[in-house]
Amino acid sequence: MSSNESAAGIAHVYRGTFVHATYHTAVEILEDGLLGVDTEGKIAFIGSGKEVDRLSQKWGFEAFAVTQLGQHEFFMPGMVDTHIHASQYSYAGTALDMPLLQWLNMYTFPVEACYKDLEFARNVYTHIVKRTLRNGTTTACYFATIHTDASLLLGQIANDFGQRALVGKVSKKETLPVVTPRFAPSCSATLLGHLGEIAQNNDLHIQSHISETKEEVNLVKELFPDYDSYTDVYHRHNLLTDKTVMAHGCHLTDGELKLFRETGASIAHCPNSNISLCSGMLDVRRVLNHKVKLGLGTDVAGGYSPSMLDAVRRTLDTSKALTIQDTQYHTLTFEEVFRLATLGGSQALSLDENTGNFEVGKDFDALRVNTDAAGGPIDLINHGEGPKVYVAGKRVVPFVERP
Ligand code: GUN
Ligand code: FE
Repeated sequence: MSSNESAAGIAHVYRGTFVHATYHTAVEILEDGLLGVDTEGKIAFIGSGKEVDRLSQKWGFEAFAVTQLGQHEFFMPGMVDTHIHASQYSYAGTALDMPLLQWLNMYTFPVEACYKDLEFARNVYTHIVKRTLRNGTTTACYFATIHTDASLLLGQIANDFGQRALVGKVSKKETLPVVTPRFAPSCSATLLGHLGEIAQNNDLHIQSHISETKEEVNLVKELFPDYDSYTDVYHRHNLLTDKTVMAHGCHLTDGELKLFRETGASIAHCPNSNISLCSGMLDVRRVLNHKVKLGLGTDVAGGYSPSMLDAVRRTLDTSKALTIQDTQYHTLTFEEVFRLATLGGSQALSLDENTGNFEVGKDFDALRVNTDAAGGPIDLINHGEGPKVYVAGKRVVPFVERP
């Protein structure tokens, strides 16, 4: 048995279309694919439906036990929300009439104070976990509040509903704790130093906000005059590591992005929030050109939607708005944004060993999408074939380089 082959037995086998991103291709489509999942939930094999007889012998499953997807169905990886405030869900869709710093004081801090009440917390946290799962978010990196019991409860609820979650302030079991300084303006250098130490000593994930608005950047300059930049404030307290995800980064300089690249820290791009609070428009292309890891986030409730599909659409909108301002701009393609919502997010959270796409050995973390579901949002009218490109027998959506 090769190292790729699982010792566990086969629990499920699916045949049909699989759509995912790889490290080399923004979108790869496996038509008539055959994927086996072992009893531990890991992908044991990926092959072609035509090989069903050979693979059933090799892996010891009955060919009739294969689940066949419908003509209009496909599997895609579960989406990764790299930045979402579970504690702000109760007022999502409201209170978007102020810039960030006023918005925090007027709306956010008073609501977050309510999480000392565990029943309040249970109600909102149950709703957000159920809602994001229904929206296809199988992995979420949550901000909770300063309340330890309520944060533990969020971890428990995510665990109970089967969502992979990172939770700040703290959590338990499958759910990973994240060291979570809210943002530099609400922390002293001493506090940042202690948090950096905790993260380092325990090899923990870290999340925070950075350079969301120009006003915030100026405030950080005033509060931390001895540091080279906002990024330097986190860096000098050991808070920039390859397990760090920083939300926004709309106003980062090239020098700061270089520091992100060097440390392996990533950015959670939250376009709904950036537009809703008039914070800025992140130039994702520039971040990617700096080879900085980037995933997408909803940033509820600065972003009004808890849907990663919305984050995908807003990412494209922002990229197109940048193109309107500069016709030479290299607009993001929807294939690239699909990758950011899946594999990109898992890389940004340093979870891509386990999730983000379909590879043998990773968890089978997938959405089964039926584009023809009764009562669904899509009308399938033209079933005509679009252009298809195959590389080594696999269908790929070509990435068109623009001049
Ligand atoms: N910066 C510090 N806290 C927050 C928050 O709760 N939401 C957003 N969007 N930015 C922040
Ligand atoms: Fe946020």
